[in-house]
Amino acid sequence: MPHILIRPEAPDDDPAISGLIATAFGPGAYARAAFRVREQAPHAPEFSFVAVLEERIAASVRLTPITVGGEDMGFLLGPLVVDPPLKSRGYGKALVRHALAAASERGVRFVILVGDEPYYGPLGFVRLPPGRVAMPGPCDPRRLLVAELEAGVGDRLAGIIAGKAAA
Ligand SMILES: CC(C)(COP(=O)(O)OP(=O)(O)OC[C@H]1O[C@@H](n2cnc3c(N)ncnc32)[C@H](O)[C@@H]1OP(=O)(O)O)[C@@H](O)C(=O)NCCC(=O)NCCS
Repeated sequence: MPHILIRPEAPDDDPAISGLIATAFGPGAYARAAFRVREQAPHAPEFSFVAVLEERIAASVRLTPITVGGEDMGFLLGPLVVDPPLKSRGYGKALVRHALAAASERGVRFVILVGDEPYYGPLGFVRLPPGRVAMPGPCDPRRLLVAELEAGVGDRLAGIIAGKAAA
């Protein structure tokens, strides 16, 4: 596997990332529950990363600050998108690992996402306990996953996930 170049997202990256998101999710993108959270708070550029190939953006992951009940220092991961011709080269997993490591280093306690357990499980995500945490919109609870950067934090989370706008 060749080395994957990852750097923090920069403001100029937005058009390219928006293009990847539109291609991956289509016109229904903004109806997804995860996008409702992102309407409440912008993603955090310092926790959002791009993978670069020959000076073009090959893949992107964004993290948005959230609260769940009273619990703070959490983020919602997504969207994770890879340029379709570059799928299955390890970009997606490399970006998730990089984002989790950066979050962990900076004291983030938990990272939640809506996604496929077979893909995200090996990256450190487990299902949230059933019925305690909800997205602000329809979401299959089996797809609501958490990476516990603080041991056991998933058991303490209860409530609706809300975007946390900067103070
Ligand atoms: C899902 C996505 C991010 C994966 O990125 P990627 O760079 O292609 O994935 P990686 O190279 O890191 O990993 C590839 C492996 O994951 C597997 N995989 C991909 N999507 C999967 C899924 N939904 N469930 C289980 N396994 C999956 C592939 O089959 C491949 O397996 P292999 O290594 O045994 O061949 C990418 O396909 C994508 O952008 N999809 C469209 C947007 C999307 O659905 N994003 C996720 C929203 S939560």
